[in-house]
Amino acid sequence: MVTSASVTSNAYSSASTAVSAATTATAPVNQDLPNIKILATGGTIAGSSTSNTDVTGYTAGALGIDTLINAVPEMKEVANVSGEQIANVGSPDVDNAVLLKLGKRINELLASDDVDGVVVTHGTDTLEETAYFLDLVVKSNKPVVIVGAMRPATAISADGSFNLYNAVKIASTPEATGKGVMIELNDRIGAARYITKTNTTGTDTFKSTEQGYLGVVSGGKVYFYNEPTRKHTADSVFNITDLTELPQVDILYEYQNNGSYLYDAAVAAGAKGIVVAGSGNGSLSKLSKAGAIKAVKAGVAVVRSTRTGSGVVTHSDEDDQNGMISSDSLNPQKARILLMLALTQTKDAKQIQTFFDEY
Ligand code: SIN
Repeated sequence: MVTSASVTSNAYSSASTAVSAATTATAPVNQDLPNIKILATGGTIAGSSTSNTDVTGYTAGALGIDTLINAVPEMKEVANVSGEQIANVGSPDVDNAVLLKLGKRINELLASDDVDGVVVTHGTDTLEETAYFLDLVVKSNKPVVIVGAMRPATAISADGSFNLYNAVKIASTPEATGKGVMIELNDRIGAARYITKTNTTGTDTFKSTEQGYLGVVSGGKVYFYNEPTRKHTADSVFNITDLTELPQVDILYEYQNNGSYLYDAAVAAGAKGIVVAGSGNGSLSKLSKAGAIKAVKAGVAVVRSTRTGSGVVTHSDEDDQNGMISSDSLNPQKARILLMLALTQTKDAKQIQTFFDEY
């Protein structure tokens, strides 16, 4: 692993030299500013390389929370910031245990009068999954902003420190209250329910094409234009307080000439739910449908989503006949998050469908 010490210059190490005295532990509290807690989980925003032109092949999750915070001293003009390291991994390795740890810690923090908002630093690859999970389990109207970067801290024109600054700015804005969990990258504010990663390497990768963004950060100001309309955070019924694990939900992908056997494999491996990334409007081939119906008969919840990247998978009479669920406009990876939480409450397909209609 490349460490910050082995790197000659990066957006964080050069700035941290200038503010070496201002560690998160010793920063004085300004009573006029909100208190924002930054929870770090890793990702490219904490990524490091030996070359400043590397934007691939670097080590994600190499830098710690204090390095990230000390690199952006301007945040201290906006809020009293302090940090905690929840994990330090690339986001493909964020698993259900990390989700539960993060969600529980945010609920503890936001229950305190001493915390006004939370910012989570995270890898971008699965950021939308964590964001939607938090949108469903955080029991507070206080702002939660999840932020990442597409370029490691060592890159020329790294985007992480400005994204982090903007995220703290959003979390410190009174208007951000009650907006659900928000994602900030590239100056856009997206709702966790609607936004998705659309490009492998571009800094403008997070898009909310159908539903639009909640707002933007421009010229140092936060502008909100829209509200999320689906249930979230304080209005959500999902409660993780006493959960130590989440039910296994797997994702299958529809393609020509597919068979039924991957359903059998998922059921045999212990899946309690299966999300299918169907073609078009959640279509399944005859064999795939047979596999899905067999899984339903074995007591497994099956949700039809779509591989198209956008649009609503509409609910049909056939879904009701087959005991299947449609995903509304949730993509497969977010449908998996909702199905895991739905299965902590019920195995009834009709009740699970109401969750997909409301959240
Ligand atoms: C990751 O998701 O951890 C790596 C990629 C990124 O953060 O952009």
